[in-house]
Formats: sequence, C-alpha cells, structure tokens
Amino acid sequence: MSSVPTHYQRVLSGMRPTGQLHLGHYHGVLKNWLRLQHEFECFFFVADWHALTTHYDDTGIIADSVYDMVVDWLAAGINPGSAKIFIQSQVPQHAELHLLLSMITPLSWLERVPSYKDQQERLKEKDLATYGFLGYPLLQSADILIYRASQVPVGEDQVAHVELTREVARRFNHLYGREPGFEDKAESAIKKMGKKNAKLYNELRRKYQEKGDHEALGTARALLESQQNITLGDRERLFGYVEGAGKIILPEPQALLSKASKMPGLDGQKMSKSYHNTIALRADPVAVEQKLRTMPTDPARIRRTDPGDPSKCPVWDLHQVYSDDTTKDWVLQGCRSAAIGCVDCKQPVIDAVLQELKPIQERAKEYLGDTKLVQNIINEGVAAARDEADDTLVEVKKAMGLRYR
Ligand code: TRP
Ligand code: SF4
Repeated sequence: MSSVPTHYQRVLSGMRPTGQLHLGHYHGVLKNWLRLQHEFECFFFVADWHALTTHYDDTGIIADSVYDMVVDWLAAGINPGSAKIFIQSQVPQHAELHLLLSMITPLSWLERVPSYKDQQERLKEKDLATYGFLGYPLLQSADILIYRASQVPVGEDQVAHVELTREVARRFNHLYGREPGFEDKAESAIKKMGKKNAKLYNELRRKYQEKGDHEALGTARALLESQQNITLGDRERLFGYVEGAGKIILPEPQALLSKASKMPGLDGQKMSKSYHNTIALRADPVAVEQKLRTMPTDPARIRRTDPGDPSKCPVWDLHQVYSDDTTKDWVLQGCRSAAIGCVDCKQPVIDAVLQELKPIQERAKEYLGDTKLVQNIINEGVAAARDEADDTLVEVKKAMGLRYR
C-alpha cells in the first residue's frame, strides 16, 4: 500500500436504483461504505442513468426506488455529514464528461468489457443492442473521473469497469497532458515548494522512476496535496512529473474490491432479488421471522430425530454471518447428533437478524417521516458534487482546447 495520508484520497461509488435494498446490499456494500466514510472523503450516488441503460422500457421502478434508496442508505448509517449523497442525473456534468471521453474511447475497448456480452446474454428478453448500453462502462468512467476519485469500492463484476476507467484516464492524459515547455514548467514549480520540499520531491521522484518504488509515489502525491504555495496547474504538472509523464489531469483510480461477504440468501444461493431469496431492510419483523422459520434446511433431516449435516443447510450459512464460535459449535454438534431441532437452530439467527434490522428500521421511519430532511440532504450532496465536477470539467476543457475566452 502507498503511504498517502488517507484524507487526501477520495472514494466514489454508485448504486443502481432497481428495487428495495436488502440484507445482501447491507452486508455486501453498505457496511463497506460505512467503514469508508470515516476514513476518506466519500461521494455516494444513485446511478439512475445507469438503471436506464437496462430499464429504459420500464422506468417506473427507477423513479420509485431513487428516493427509497437514499432513505435506506441513511437508515443503514451513511452519514451525510461525512459522505456526500446525490443523484447522478442531477449532476449533468457526468454526461458532459461522458461525451468528451467518448471522443477518445476506441469502440473495441467497450466491446471487450465482459459485462457487455454477458448481460446481453443474460437479459435476452431485453434489447440491449443500444448505444447507451454499449457506452455504460464509459459513463461509469465519467462518474469516477469527474470527481478524480482515487478509490472505487466495487464488487468483482465491476472491476473491469474500473480498469477501463484507468485506460481512458491514461489515454486522456497522454493526449492532452502534453504542453510546450512541460519540463521547464515542472522544474520551476518544484522550486516554488521551498528548498526542503523540493529536495524531498526530487528524491521521491528518483526513487519511483529508478526503482519503481510505489510507496515513494504515494508519498510524493501526499506531499503535493499538502502544498499551499503552488497553483492547481503546477500541482497537476508535478503529479505527472513524478511518473515521468505529462500533466495528470485525470488521475487513475483504484478498484477497492470489497472483501466479498457474499451474503447468503434464504435458499443457500447468494442473496439477490432475481433469486427471490431476500430479506428487505425494511421488511416487517413478523414477515422476517416467518421467512426464516420456513426457510429450507438440510433436506435429509425429515424428522426431528434425524441427524443433519450443516454443510448442506442454508441456515448454517447464515450462522456464519451472525453467530459466534460458541453458537456455531452448538449448531455443529446439535445438528449432527440430532440433539437440537431446526426450529431451535434458527432462533439465534432470527434474533440476530431482527436485532440488526431494528435500528435500521427505526432510522428509516424517521427519514420517511421527514421528506424535507431527505430532500435537503440530497440537495446539499448535489451542490457539493456539482462544485467538484465543475472544477474537473474546467480543467478537462482547458486541456482539450475548449475554452473560448
Ligand atoms: N455500474 C455499477 C453497478 O451496476 C453502479 C455504478 C455506476 C458505479 N457508476 C459507478 C459504481 C461508479 C462505482 C463507481 O453496480
Ligand atoms: Fe440446518 Fe440447523 Fe437444522 Fe442442522 S439443525 S439442518 S444446521 S437448521
């Protein structure tokens, strides 16, 4: 890992609004976001345009889910004081950057993104041979690059999109980061940092260029971030100069692969809306209990006196998420010896799920009862996001020669 102080790094992530959030989202994504919001500057947005790429013929679910999704984030504990929460389509700068990036993105890069063919195969009932669908990973690149985010928490299926983003950024910087007299400008910018910092910068640059020392690269970046005396343009030059390239206008982001807590669903498969095996964050506690009580167990345990095998039981998967070692030992022994029944075995899971959902549902209720508050949180997030996005667009357009003043 590089030693860039964490507050110099920015996290961005988005989620498509295509239905109610469930425990799979909570364990797979939101818990990650909750941790990140304390460590980094975070931008979290509702990717409504992304939802349109696959749901263009059925937009009702998008409109219905946008607001609910924000409520669920807040209920899960996303804190608008530390993370900016906004809606993609309310920051049209994403679209402008998407258009500009589309000019330099080879078609073949998009055609070879694995999700392109996969999704077309999987969603056969939909016509996904659209311009928007092909371009959707590039829209994602624009989402990321418009905030010059350094970290992008995503699941495995999205890593290729972050990789595309890196390639597009590299190409952009290569095409537009050159300027006449770059080296001279960089050298004079170094001097502006003062003797001590200039010396440190030069050392770090040498370490990186001669030995490929990534830690030195990270430290150099942090050093630049902390400089008050240099202009934004000089900073970008020096970012690029460390690596021996031109100006870095759009920094390459890293995918932050969530330690895949694949939340099991009620049937042993991964929890997912398409498998109808979910527990919604806002599900009624009585219904939650009912769902867990009736969920399948080891099919070989027909009678209470039949011993079972936890490894063949989806309830056991839930114990992995919710139970401590003592409880797990109790399950293993009790199940194999038929000392406990499945009803007994499910009780600790039921208790744990209800306990987990309780504060979430209480907060959800508060936010649902205060539409104005939620609206204000979104408005503030949108305003902050637009500010950041505008700054990037100014630099991007300047680099591309689209400033007519
Ligand atoms: N494509 C992502 C998904 O389907 C959502 C998304 C859109 C996203 N833009 C993003 C995620 C930018 C991370 C960064 O889940
Ligand atoms: Fe599954 Fe528990 Fe029943 Fe064993 S006792 S089959 S682990 S529910």
